[in-house]
Amino acid sequence: MIRKNVLVTGAAGYIGSELVKNLLWGGFRVVAFDNLSFGGESLLAFWGHPNFRFIKGDLLNEEDVKGALKGINYVCHLAAIVGEPPCNKYPDLALKVNWEASVRLYERCEEAKIERFVFASTCSNYGKMADVNYFLDENAELNPISLYAETKVNFEKYLLNIKNSTIVRTILRFSTVYGISPRLRFDLTVNEFTRDAALNKPLLIYGENFWRPYCHVSDLANSVKIALLADSEKVANQAFNVGDTAENYTKKMLMTEISKELPSLKVNYHSVVNDPRDYRVNADKIKNILGFKISKTVPDGIREIASVVGNKLISDPLNTKYRNV
Ligand SMILES: NC(=O)c1ccc[n+]([C@@H]2O[C@H](COP(=O)([O-])OP(=O)(O)OC[C@H]3O[C@@H](n4cnc5c(N)ncnc54)[C@H](O)[C@@H]3O)[C@@H](O)[C@H]2O)c1
Repeated sequence: MIRKNVLVTGAAGYIGSELVKNLLWGGFRVVAFDNLSFGGESLLAFWGHPNFRFIKGDLLNEEDVKGALKGINYVCHLAAIVGEPPCNKYPDLALKVNWEASVRLYERCEEAKIERFVFASTCSNYGKMADVNYFLDENAELNPISLYAETKVNFEKYLLNIKNSTIVRTILRFSTVYGISPRLRFDLTVNEFTRDAALNKPLLIYGENFWRPYCHVSDLANSVKIALLADSEKVANQAFNVGDTAENYTKKMLMTEISKELPSLKVNYHSVVNDPRDYRVNADKIKNILGFKISKTVPDGIREIASVVGNKLISDPLNTKYRNV
């Protein structure tokens, strides 16, 4: 196999660090690019690996970006201000990073003659489904109801509307992520609820009947590798939902799953809706076209988080470093 050089932006992040691991195991040479907003411990395990190189750089700095693209074949663009709360707290930065700097990155990729560009988008782009009886596939209308999703939708549209580019562009709309990765996050539904239940904290649940698709972080990382290895005509200028159609859950269903693992779970439901996103996603396209299959389900992720917290592998799971804001 000819080893390709892959630049991963946001490589120190929750999904990025898992992707670095996956790509190194897959025989790629990886250049990890990150400004280390949440530190860099997540990359320590790769230090010294012959196919790993780290560049501390900022997407907002043109020179950092140009330098990072030297000798690169493929770019996986994950760096972003991630999630609604941080985008609402830092709206100017969110626009700069998720939109303006992403467009500039792509322009530099054109100049650097990059072969493939994979963009980490989100199923949050679907917002709120009009009909609860349907599962949203890639042809469903995008209905962003947050600044975060707006920036993601705008960059998706930009990528899909580019004419005369030789770069194979692939958009991966990730489901909501859960599970253990080198940079753990406890501000994501499954991880946060399971942690709190494992710490015997009563849960307060808003919008218990709202749907969301879920996918394990290692499976999401694997989807990126699969997209990079796929025949270009299968992935060029296309969006894929990433997850599994059977892995859509309401928050109430998550409570049922968590209580199977942690029977002392205490839950209070609140009628106020603090997050109006409500969508069920069909992820059959990536399965049928790219042969992508998940290896873990939400109950597996709940067991994983419950055992890590229960065995006290993390001394301070409530520390704010495990959150994006
Ligand atoms: N976590 C989820 O549930 C989820 C779901 C769908 C899509 N996504 C997408 O996947 C990608 C990764 O998400 P994550 O959960 O790993 O987030 P994360 O916040 O853990 O990681 C993002 C990384 O990007 C880096 N970064 C931010 N701004 C930067 C800049 N200006 N220059 C260089 N690096 C910068 C941060 O330091 C961080 O390491 C994001 O694009 C996100 O929108 C995540």
